[in-house]
Amino acid sequence: MDKRERERPRVVLGVSGGIAAYKACELLRRLTESGHDVRVVPTASALHFVGEATWSALSGNPATTEVWESVHEVPHVRIGQAADLVVVAPATADMLAKAAHGLADDLLTNTLLTARCPVIFAPAMHTEMWENPATQENVATLRRRGALVIEPAVGRLTGVDTGKGRFPDPVEIFELCRRVLARGERGGFEPDLSGRRVVVTAGGTREPLDPVRYLGNRSSGKQGYALAATAAARGAQVTLIAGNTELPDPAGVDVIPVGTARQLREAVLKAAADADAVVMAAAVADFRPAVYATGKIKKVEGREPEPIGLVRNPDILAELSADRARPGQVVVGFAAETDDVLANGRAKLARKGCDLLVVNEVGEDKAFGSAENEAVVLASDGSETPVPYGPKDALADRVWDLVVPRLAERSA
Ligand code: CTP
Repeated sequence: MDKRERERPRVVLGVSGGIAAYKACELLRRLTESGHDVRVVPTASALHFVGEATWSALSGNPATTEVWESVHEVPHVRIGQAADLVVVAPATADMLAKAAHGLADDLLTNTLLTARCPVIFAPAMHTEMWENPATQENVATLRRRGALVIEPAVGRLTGVDTGKGRFPDPVEIFELCRRVLARGERGGFEPDLSGRRVVVTAGGTREPLDPVRYLGNRSSGKQGYALAATAAARGAQVTLIAGNTELPDPAGVDVIPVGTARQLREAVLKAAADADAVVMAAAVADFRPAVYATGKIKKVEGREPEPIGLVRNPDILAELSADRARPGQVVVGFAAETDDVLANGRAKLARKGCDLLVVNEVGEDKAFGSAENEAVVLASDGSETPVPYGPKDALADRVWDLVVPRLAERSA
């Protein structure tokens, strides 16, 4: 049967020998519950952490480690050939080294050599092992060959230490798998942002009036998070600068939380210094209170409140566009409009000087907080790309579809 004709996408979950193997059980559950046919291929070391019975019971399939079991089915070739996605989670330093060098001494490493589908590695290890030049070179080799090696998260590691190397939230790795599979279904997966660094801003800024009050806006951050997550699923190294959101960190994305417009500006200018593209999806406050009251503003009996004076915040998008941190950097803005949407959008594109402007209509019931969005992407070359109403992920992918050729053109 042709892969595309199958009802249930086939996923191989490779598990190598790290303590995060127990978290891969949650990833497995999410995959099976959402209708994927999952075959778990643990390494012998992985079985020290989680036993074969758990993998078989949760997947409903045999979980084999060696090539010598069920030899008549030629599993070392079949499993990889039939897969729609291979995800190695956790991927240890040893597994990355084996994969980078094409070793094939067990079922998982054989499977990696026979797979023709997208391959995701979710590394988890101690910071020193991750940062070791040997590991970094192996990661670079795998990425160059088209694998998606996500950046580990920063946080508590086994024992008392903290740092980079933590296994990302399994729910977010599942989301990444879902995105990669969806792109594969739409006509072949290609990590077309591999080797690119992108910065995305999301959410809304809050401008404090006093220690308990602020001026804010209704941005949920969902569109910016969708942009960051889809870029990671296309192989980019992503920095997400997030203003006041409550959303989980997408797997493989470096998230920098900020509060005010000025903090966002500082973070984005720093991150943009070595970025290939910057997408300003955040709703940045244009104004902030002229005076910040260090103590809570109290009401005074018999007296009207003082009016709140406002001053302008810097226009970060205009600044980024006028003063590109790198030659050929692609800068994308968003425009939230309530009236004369397209005319205002065109004027704003010219005023801000960015390459692309994603124009969407907002209102009490539109866009903010919803999982869906509709927009027109205006480009500085005069082209217009309408994006029909649909998931914020689909709009995010359309934006990257327009960024990718511009990046290629400029680095040619
Ligand atoms: N933006 C920015 N810095 C600001 C305000 C906005 O970088 N101080 C960015 C937003 O991230 C977005 C784009 O500019 O990408 C457009 O924001 P929007 O608020 O729609 O436009 P404004 O510049 O505020 O224009 P207007 O007030 O006329 O709607």
